[in-house]
Amino acid sequence: MKGKYQKIKKIVEKELVRADTGHDINHVMRVYDLCLELTKGVKNIDLDILKMAVLLHDIAEVKESERTCHAELSAKMAQKILDKLNYSQDRTDKVVHCILTHRYRKGVKPKTKEAKILFDADKLDALGAIGITRAFIWVERHKAKIYTRLSLKEYIKENLAGGKINGRIKDKTKHSPFIEFEIKLKHIPNRLHTQKAKKMAKERLAYMKLFFSRLKKEIKGEI
Ligand SMILES: [Fe+2]
Ligand SMILES: [Fe+2]
Repeated sequence: MKGKYQKIKKIVEKELVRADTGHDINHVMRVYDLCLELTKGVKNIDLDILKMAVLLHDIAEVKESERTCHAELSAKMAQKILDKLNYSQDRTDKVVHCILTHRYRKGVKPKTKEAKILFDADKLDALGAIGITRAFIWVERHKAKIYTRLSLKEYIKENLAGGKINGRIKDKTKHSPFIEFEIKLKHIPNRLHTQKAKKMAKERLAYMKLFFSRLKKEIKGEI
């Protein structure tokens, strides 16, 4: 990596110095590599837009709060940084679209090829061995559980708003990686845009399934 990308990486790295280890510069660089992997064989990708977007997509991660979404904050910071680099407004808008839509929210879906690839790559980093690792970092950050004996049905009823599988988590301390896998992660392939990412996601999920069934057996003292 060289030139302006290296410069942006340095800025982002500085902003993420206090981020947890699941959301630090190494997450950004894994997603960067995944983005490049997902572009292989795909025509008409604007690599410069994609690289700028992936490097900046989580720049405001540590600034997120209950009321402010890090994707929106990151988009605002990206706009300022790209202005300073004399990036044209037209190209900045394209980068901003990728950043705003990397997090699934109602009404703002990725529309461009670059935005779809960033969305897919970012979700892939929540799956597989790395996904498991990051899920347990989340546990520590929110003082949640490494496992829970509640059944999925009981958990959804008790801790998800409206008793619905897609409801907001009411109390994060009651959450666990296995619950996250059941209610969210295993459904990720249906939300991805590129065939290659879907394939990779399924492979990563198969590994997670194996891990959680082993964990369950160990917790029960069967192994
Ligand atoms: Fe993000
Ligand atoms: Fe991310």
